[in-house]
Amino acid sequence: MAVKSFDSPVRNESDQEYLVEVKNLKKYFQTGSGVVKAVNNVSFGIKRGETLGVVGESGCGKSTMGRTVLRLYDATEGQVLFEGKDVHKLGQRDLKKMRRDMQMIFQDPYASLNPRMTVEDIIGEALDLHNLASGKKRRERIQDLLRLVGLKPEHINRFPHEFSGGQRQRIGIARALAVEPKFIVCDEPISALDVSIQAQVVNLLKDLQREMGLTYLFIAHDLAMVKHISDRVAVMYLGKMAELASSEELYERPLHPYTQALLSAIPIPDPEVERTRERIVLEGDVPSPMNPPSGCHFRTRCPHAMESCAKIEPVWQEVLPEHFVACHLYNQEIMGDKVLRP
Ligand SMILES: Nc1ncnc2c1ncn2[C@@H]1O[C@H](COP(=O)(O)OP(=O)(O)OP(=O)(O)O)[C@@H](O)[C@H]1O
Ligand SMILES: [Mg+2]
Repeated sequence: MAVKSFDSPVRNESDQEYLVEVKNLKKYFQTGSGVVKAVNNVSFGIKRGETLGVVGESGCGKSTMGRTVLRLYDATEGQVLFEGKDVHKLGQRDLKKMRRDMQMIFQDPYASLNPRMTVEDIIGEALDLHNLASGKKRRERIQDLLRLVGLKPEHINRFPHEFSGGQRQRIGIARALAVEPKFIVCDEPISALDVSIQAQVVNLLKDLQREMGLTYLFIAHDLAMVKHISDRVAVMYLGKMAELASSEELYERPLHPYTQALLSAIPIPDPEVERTRERIVLEGDVPSPMNPPSGCHFRTRCPHAMESCAKIEPVWQEVLPEHFVACHLYNQEIMGDKVLRP
């Protein structure tokens, strides 16, 4: 089959338009002990109205990527196109306008809300920044937003500590929605919440997405969790994308050995099937992003590592329709006839 790289996507009529396109994005941090390659050349698109889930172990660069996409961090290299415009090239005025379209919901609803501000101040601040409402209208708008996220409008004068974790995350969601964004980076928005509350917040995000036509980049630790939320899922390892496909495709036909290992760790509800589940246990720890392995970053833990994996970095390729992977097992030149056939 023809392999096409992400840089020149051939679009057919069924393809939706990309709202966000990330091209060869890098974010390096200069630290006292060296350069941390937190995001190391990633390329992907996010379609209008979809949820793209991003998973990977702690430290693989998920948050850094989310923040660099929103230009909360400057990119070291590469592009982020939002509706075709390069976010990292905008001047201050255009950037301010674009900030209305792109918002973030944070992992920790305790740390991300100022404890000295009331709910009215917190949500109002977002409205003021973009001159969206004043006086009586402003207060009404804030109360509408509270209703929208399932909170009581009469709680407008309360402080964050007067709410539970789940309610605080709802305040964070209301703050993001105040400016009527098109795109929201949700950075592990439910990880800090009780399991019993997690589904409620996920359902709220899903309902809001449907009602308001929102597009999400949804960051999570765990593949089992993102499956239900995401239309497509991307798997990251040590600053790079390992694989990206629709949720169904990724769970049914994982191609990258890392994705296969992550999936094999998820318990299956059916006890019969669960008994026969084969677990792929990865040896060793994730290497340091300051000094990643040569060639394929995953090769030091990969059960299928070959000689070429240490020498040549795998290319990010669309090996099946809408299914991207960076692995030599699916590289025609290296693997010859072992290449996957649909
Ligand atoms: N401001 C910073 N300065 C230096 N290094 C950083 C900075 N922020 C992140 N890093 C490093 O970059 C790498 C990626 O971190 P990041 O927080 O993006 O990972 P993550 O996938 O979000 O992890 P987690 O699942 O724990 O939230 C890590 O090695 C981290 O230590
Ligand atoms: Mg993070």
